Amino acid sequence: MGLRRSNRQAGPDDPRTAVVPGTDWAVELRGVRRRYGRGSSVVHALRGIDLALPRAGFTAVMGPSGSGKSTFLQCAAGLDRPTEGSVRLGGTEITGMSENKLTALRRSRIGFVFQAFNLLPSLTVEQNVLLPMRLAGVHQDRDRAAGLLAKVGLEGKGKRRPGELSGGQQQRVAIARALVTEPDVVFADEPTGALDTTTAAEVLNLLRGAVDTLGATVVMVTHDPAAAAYADSVLFLADGEIADSLPRASATQIAARMKALTAPVHAGAAA
Ligand SMILES: Nc1ncnc2c1ncn2[C@@H]1O[C@H](COP(=O)(O)OP(=O)(O)O)[C@@H](O)[C@H]1O
Ligand SMILES: [Mg+2]
Repeated sequence: MGLRRSNRQAGPDDPRTAVVPGTDWAVELRGVRRRYGRGSSVVHALRGIDLALPRAGFTAVMGPSGSGKSTFLQCAAGLDRPTEGSVRLGGTEITGMSENKLTALRRSRIGFVFQAFNLLPSLTVEQNVLLPMRLAGVHQDRDRAAGLLAKVGLEGKGKRRPGELSGGQQQRVAIARALVTEPDVVFADEPTGALDTTTAAEVLNLLRGAVDTLGATVVMVTHDPAAAAYADSVLFLADGEIADSLPRASATQIAARMKALTAPVHAGAAA
């Protein structure tokens, strides 16, 4: 596929994203709060998230365990509903949308890549890639599936079953599946968590390439600074809030920022 990291910084000034100011975001969260439970046992998983992510950008989300990463991803992807605030996906307000409409929107306009691949073992590779189209009830474009499989380095493997493929190959199938409907956003939750370093790098290069050559928008939760370094920008969550962000950072810079975030907050306050 010949994918290399580019130095292109996606953003509102990028010609591909500068359509109508304020409406061309892939994902927009405004004042998003998510509480679990109530009274004395209430947990504030998200405490007011405001962000807008540009199309054709690659965003990594990091943060300590319990900082709200999964809740953020679920709320942004329409899998969970915020307690307060609003979420827009590809310009569509999903807050208050009926469950049926939300399901339809997720199937056609969102791609998912999970740590555990989540392919259907009884379906062929091609059928797995076409599944989102099948579920969305649209024409299953086999040429498009074949093209995507070639792009992820699995040309000719369409008739195989997931169980016949390596972990890295299975995650490539999952990436092809996530891209097949040309979604507004691909959400990836620890997509390299189950892979060795070399295979992880291949998968990250594919995600990077999907952004650079296909104009995909990727939002990836990871705990790995080396993985986050593939992104155009890194958001750091701490205690349900966006504590920091870094554009185009190296793994070393990202690791240092993570370390600062997880250091005791009140150091020095006791003097
Ligand atoms: N279903 C739930 N019920 C109660 N508390 C939850 C639930 N899901 C998450 N939480 C809490 O919300 C906070 C954020 O969790 P999570 O989003 O999973 O963080 P992360 O993915 O960064 O580890 C944590 O304190 C967690 O215990
Ligand atoms: Mg989590």
